[in-house]
Amino acid sequence: MSISFSLATTAPERTRADVLAVPVFTDRNLGPGAAAVEAASGGDLTGFMTRAGFTGAKGQALFVPLSGPAKSALLVGLGNEAEVTADSLRIAGALVSQRASGSARVATTLADAAPANVERAVAAQALVEGFVLGGYEFLDYRSKKSERKLATVVILGGGGAATRSALARGEVVADAVLWARDMVNTPARELSPELFAKAAQARLRGRSIKVEVLDLAAMRRLRLGGVIGVGQGSKQSPRFVKMTYSPAGARGTIALVGKGVVFDSGGLSLKTGAGMETMKTDMAGAAAVIAAMSAMADLGVKTKVVAYTPMVENMPSGEAIRPGDVLTFRNGKTAEVLNTDAEGRLILADALALAAEGKPDGIVDLATLTGACVVALGEKIAGLMTNNEEWGDTVEAASKRAGESMWPLPLPKEYRKMIDSEIADMKNISHGGYGGALTAGLFLQEFVNDVPWVHLDIAGPSRASADDGYVRRGGSGFGVRTLLELAEAHRPAKKKK
Ligand code: BES
Ligand code: MN
Ligand code: ZN
Repeated sequence: MSISFSLATTAPERTRADVLAVPVFTDRNLGPGAAAVEAASGGDLTGFMTRAGFTGAKGQALFVPLSGPAKSALLVGLGNEAEVTADSLRIAGALVSQRASGSARVATTLADAAPANVERAVAAQALVEGFVLGGYEFLDYRSKKSERKLATVVILGGGGAATRSALARGEVVADAVLWARDMVNTPARELSPELFAKAAQARLRGRSIKVEVLDLAAMRRLRLGGVIGVGQGSKQSPRFVKMTYSPAGARGTIALVGKGVVFDSGGLSLKTGAGMETMKTDMAGAAAVIAAMSAMADLGVKTKVVAYTPMVENMPSGEAIRPGDVLTFRNGKTAEVLNTDAEGRLILADALALAAEGKPDGIVDLATLTGACVVALGEKIAGLMTNNEEWGDTVEAASKRAGESMWPLPLPKEYRKMIDSEIADMKNISHGGYGGALTAGLFLQEFVNDVPWVHLDIAGPSRASADDGYVRRGGSGFGVRTLLELAEAHRPAKKKK
């Protein structure tokens, strides 16, 4: 069920919602609206919190029965008052969305809980995102329907036109993230490259984005040897989707690339059973890129964005590429495939080469590329590699505004020889085995010429193994919000004289 959001100047003591959600800070410090709750709770609210072990710490929530205005209040812990950020509000929104899911109508003063350094519009947007993302359920394959009843959220405190449009923005952003999550969670049986490309077309239809779907013949004409090579072991032939968003008066151009391996069995270098369990999610980069494109059009972002998403299934068969085979990519470079499970870099190579040909101001690729990156940074943080420090900083800043965690990793020149091949320009796995996220990045770097480029290895955060705040177990939609922030803030660098 989708939630509708509105803004009201109603005083908390006069709201007629089923649940009134109010913030409480560390040490049971009552936030905006909590005084009305105290008055309607029949007295000793502090004693009630104390007996329940509720301190106002981040992530805590406590229901309080009321004698009006609302039937009950939900106290939401936000931690230290001065440290509240947009992301704390996203988490708070998610918490209310989950705990009050059985109520139809919620009113909340949470948008007023942010300190002065968080704009009210930013706070309201984050809150909306939290409510929607935190209430996400993927029920396509369950026999039971959703039990959620939450249909209306009234954000109290008013705020005018800027806040009102922030609510709409939050809904657009969250809707895009949910679409990406749905794609990632969909089993590969129902998301072949062909169907994934169709889903992208359907998502972008009517959104002023040009979508081109290349089939095998078109890919041959473009000499996309990496995509064709990886795709040849599967009965489901690959696709290559190019998307162009070109608004009038655009400020510069960004290119996006997303890894779209709809299922990664490893190919002839077959994964173990356990290693394959989550490999329907190996298209999360492509899903995030497509979702971000849809939201850019919805929001009327003023940057030209061109996106490339190769879609393949990596399967073993009599027609699959073999360890030892050599592939020739779009830019003429060659790679010896020593391990068919290092397939992501092979399809990204062609996509990055195409992206670089367009000479955009910057390229960003998102890819569930290496287990090594998950070893290094865990499940919640993406690895960020770049050939251009300034572009890297720009992407990192966008990720901070979006509340998506990334951490820089190096692309050490002295490691390049680890991917030297006996017979080709390079090999697709590294000699020695250590530093796998970096050698994968070094492989990709061979295809971007000198265009500023950032590689985001999202193997960890693209999927969550447990619920956590506004992220639910399964596909996370990681990257969508960063790409949006990046495109919105983009200004082409001044040309050096
Ligand atoms: N899709 C995987 C990476 C991956 C692993 C994503 C775990 C999410 C969770 C990728 O195609 C892969 O198989 N990488 C190999 C590379 C190796 C063969 C050099 C890996 O990381 O083991
Ligand atoms: Mn693989
Ligand atoms: Zn893969």
